[in-house]
Amino acid sequence: MGQGKVLMILLAMVAGFGVALHFFTQIIAPPPTENQGVASFDVSRPRAPSEARKLKNPFMRSPEILEEGDALYHGQGGCYACHGDTGKGDGEAGELLAGGPPPRDLTNPSFQMLRTDGEIFWSIKNGVDRTGMYANVPRIISEEEAWKIVHYIRSIRDKS
Ligand code: HEC
Repeated sequence: MGQGKVLMILLAMVAGFGVALHFFTQIIAPPPTENQGVASFDVSRPRAPSEARKLKNPFMRSPEILEEGDALYHGQGGCYACHGDTGKGDGEAGELLAGGPPPRDLTNPSFQMLRTDGEIFWSIKNGVDRTGMYANVPRIISEEEAWKIVHYIRSIRDKS
């Protein structure tokens, strides 16, 4: 066997071990159990199916829409109870979710960068599997109202 071939086999083994270790740690690593002070549940993992990425907000951003989104976030939608008054994920009800992932810090720059408007909308509408984030449409708000909140969530990014 040539040296190159041996090297290839060695490399493949190392890579295979790395992949196996990755899956193993994913299985044995428990989700964070404390809400306060825990880095949020791996933000790089999408919460919505890929087709959600392309959904478009039917509303143009305007001061009126932002105001409505703000009012829904802090009122009828009840989002502030978990995600906090300023979106930092530090709402009081979020503390009751001990054992599951904490509410998303909506001001988190990685979250804001990685998610499209469509994905944010999808999670608000359908909830996030295996977390305290339940489906909000149609039980709590309408699709239109969810889209207005998406604009509001983007405005949190622009302020921080
Ligand atoms: C009962 C507590 C609770 C309420 C109320 C709640 N959320 Fe959540 N939310 C969570 C939790 C827990 C997660 C999961 C965090 C994660 O995926 O890491 C989450 C996830 C999300 C996500 C997806 C985060 C991501 O990484 O893509 C968005 C967007 C979101 N919430 C927005 C809202 C909005 C808007 C409302 C109000 C209509 C709301 N949430 C109400 C607890 C809550």
